[in-house]
Amino acid sequence: MDTRPIGVYDSGVGGLTGLRALMRMLPDENYLYFSDSGRMPYGPRPLGDLRRIAVQDMDYLASFGVKAILAACGTISSAAKEEIGAYPIPAFGVLTPALDAMAAVPGDGPLAVLATAASIRSGEFTEALRKKCGMCREIVGVSCPEFAPLIESGRIRRSDPAVQECVQRALKPVRGIKFDAILLGCTHYGFIEDAIRDCLGEDVKLMSAADCGARALRDYLAAHELTGGERHAPRYFVSGDTSAFEAFAEPYLQAGPVHAEQAPIMEI
Ligand code: DGL
Repeated sequence: MDTRPIGVYDSGVGGLTGLRALMRMLPDENYLYFSDSGRMPYGPRPLGDLRRIAVQDMDYLASFGVKAILAACGTISSAAKEEIGAYPIPAFGVLTPALDAMAAVPGDGPLAVLATAASIRSGEFTEALRKKCGMCREIVGVSCPEFAPLIESGRIRRSDPAVQECVQRALKPVRGIKFDAILLGCTHYGFIEDAIRDCLGEDVKLMSAADCGARALRDYLAAHELTGGERHAPRYFVSGDTSAFEAFAEPYLQAGPVHAEQAPIMEI
């Protein structure tokens, strides 16, 4: 047993989807969440910046004595695979577990990945999935650069015309294609799942990269006897607007009051 906290981070509220998945799977753990919203969005940033950010964010969480880290961010997970893998504290991204889950989807119909510009540009999701699935399965990557900033601004309701327009615009090239599964490769996208379904079809199979990453971390902790057993209220650190974060996180997590502590904006 190890009662040290688990650290989870993202550029903003997106990683809360990973945190909530973890809190449900491992309710007797302590959690620290870092929202780097002062530097959000990560999606348009160059690779070198993203790699440095990944290490800075992990160092920040490590300074609180975490036992393990989840990079609950598709952009960081794809840009900084090596940095995450080599980190001195066990650290996981969402990329590899999400690819494994997608490659296991039965059938030979097309698969899609929705993610940020950096994630799609890197090819880490789409090329790796092509390799895993073989040539007979079509893999389509869709860059959705407007989604995460809109969600971060608090606009997530399926009835919100701004959400509907944004989703329709980004997904227009793939409307009408019958995908076997679609990966939400950016952790923010879980918040607009309903609007995505409205656009692509109610019965479309959506897979959450955040959930896949959370499961991988849970399995690791269990296999290494590192699970906790002494639960405290989670702590939240935010490099941007703390009250906007609190207003977003509290109703979503339903885990008691959310009090966010101000984190520094680190220089890249
Ligand atoms: N939540 C993020 C991801 O999973 C990052 C969004 C952004 O900052 O652009 O990719």
